[in-house]
Amino acid sequence: MIHVYWKNCFSDDKADSSRGIAGAPKHGITEQDLQKLHPALQKAHKAVQDDIDADKLGFAKLPTRTDYRRQARQLVAKKYAEFPRQTITDMVILGIGGSALGNIALQAALNPLTYNLMSDTDRPGPRLFVLDNVDPALVGEVIQAIRPRLKTTLVNVISKSGETAETAAQFMIFRNLLRRALGKDFARNIVATTDLNKGTLHDLARKDGYDMLAVPDDVGGRFSVLTPVGLFPAAMCGININQLLAGAADMKRRCAVRDWRKNPATLLAGLKFLAYQKGKVMDVMMPYSNRLYSLADWYRQLWAESLGKALNRKNKEVFTGPTPIKALGTTDQHSQVQLYRDGPNDKFFQFLEVAKHPQNVAIPRDFANVAGMGYLGGHTLEQLLNAEKLATEYALAVNQRPSVTIRFDAITPHSVGEFIYLYEMVTSIAGELLDVNTYDQPAVELGKHATFALMGRGGFDVIRKNIKPYEKIDKTFLA
Ligand code: PA5
Repeated sequence: MIHVYWKNCFSDDKADSSRGIAGAPKHGITEQDLQKLHPALQKAHKAVQDDIDADKLGFAKLPTRTDYRRQARQLVAKKYAEFPRQTITDMVILGIGGSALGNIALQAALNPLTYNLMSDTDRPGPRLFVLDNVDPALVGEVIQAIRPRLKTTLVNVISKSGETAETAAQFMIFRNLLRRALGKDFARNIVATTDLNKGTLHDLARKDGYDMLAVPDDVGGRFSVLTPVGLFPAAMCGININQLLAGAADMKRRCAVRDWRKNPATLLAGLKFLAYQKGKVMDVMMPYSNRLYSLADWYRQLWAESLGKALNRKNKEVFTGPTPIKALGTTDQHSQVQLYRDGPNDKFFQFLEVAKHPQNVAIPRDFANVAGMGYLGGHTLEQLLNAEKLATEYALAVNQRPSVTIRFDAITPHSVGEFIYLYEMVTSIAGELLDVNTYDQPAVELGKHATFALMGRGGFDVIRKNIKPYEKIDKTFLA
C-alpha cells in the first residue's frame, strides 16, 4: 500500500522544524490556505469524479477493465506457443513518450535491476529493450545485441497515432531486419499496439498480418500504461498485471472519497497547487529507490504535457504549469541538494520512500574503533537509505523547503498500480485547479511538423523554408 505524509509542507507558527516548516507561511502551507482553497478543491475533485462516474475519462476505466488484461495474457501464451521451442529470448519495444515511459517504469520497478543480465533460464521473461529514442548508437547497439537471436526476438511497436517519426523509423528498421532474417514468417515476430480502426501503423499491421493490441481512443499516450501499451510487455516479462490493476482499482476507490483530507489525490493536488501559488514553480520528485526512479520519469511526462499550457479553458493566456524535475536519493544529495536547500526557494519536493525494499544488504560490523566508519556496522543499507531520506527531508524543512512523502510499504505490482492511478488523478484534479485542458498537448506539434519538413515529408514546405539547417547558419552567431 502507499501513503501520503504531508506534515513537512505545512507551516507551523512555532519555530520548531520537527513540526513542519518552521514559522514559514510564505513557503509552507497554512490552515488558512487550505480553508481558502477548500471550495475550489472540492469543485475540482467533483468535476473529475463526475466525469469518471459518467464513464467519460478513459484512464479511469482501466483498473477494472478485464478485456485488456485477458488479451495481454492470451497474446503472451499465443506468442510463446508460436515461437520455435516456445522460446522468446528478447523483446524490443519501439515507441516514445507515453508509448515507452510507462513500460520502462514498470520494468525498472517490478523486475530486478539486473534483469537483462540474468541468464535466459533464470529470467522470468525475455530480455527487454525499450527504444525510446532514435539515437543511432542506442538503436545500433541493441541491433548488435539481438542480431544473433532474431528468430527468438519479439518486436512490439507501440504508437497510438501510428505515424510518430521516431517510432516509424525504428519500425522500418526492425521490420526490414526481421524480414531479411526470417523471410515470410517475419510477421510472427512483430506485435503492433495501436489504434485498432485506423492509422498508418494499423494499415501496415493488417497488411503484414501482425498480432495487434489496442491503444484505446479515449486514453492519451501518457495515461496509457494500464492499457495493452503497458500490460502486454509487463505480462511478457513476468509482472503480475492482475495485481497491478488491483492496486490501481484500490486507489481509484480511495480517490473517489469526497473529503479531501482522506483522499490522497485531492490532497496532493491541493498541496501542489498551493505550493505553486506560493512560487514553488519547480516540482521535484525524488525517489529513494533506484527501482522507483523511472516512475519519476513517467510522472515528469504526465505532469509536464498535461499541465504546461499557454491557454486556459477560457482561451485566456496563462502560460502555466509547474516544471517537474526528477532526482534520485541518495545520489542527488551529492549533486542537487546544495541548490535545493540554499538556492531559490522555488521548489516543492515529493519524496518516494520504501519501507521494505526488494533486497536488503547488511553492513558488516568491521572497524568498530574507527569513528568515521564503525557506526555503520550492524546496520543495513535499507536503514541507511531511509535515514538519509529522513535527514534530507528534515534539512529541507529547516530551510523552509516544503515536501511531502509518498511511502510504499513495499515495491509490488499492487503498490505501483496504486501510484500510477494516484498520480493520474492528481494530474487531472490539478488540471481542474489550473483550469487547463489536461488531456491535449498542442505545443508538441510544431516540433513534429518541423521534423517532417526537414526529413522531406510532403505538405510541410512552408515550415521547411523557415528553418535553417546548421550548414546554412548565420556565421555572425558562430563562436
Ligand atoms: O502522451 C502523449 O500523447 C505523447 O507523449 C505520445 O505518447 C508520444 O508523442 C508518442 O505518440 P504515439 O503513441 O502516437 O506514437
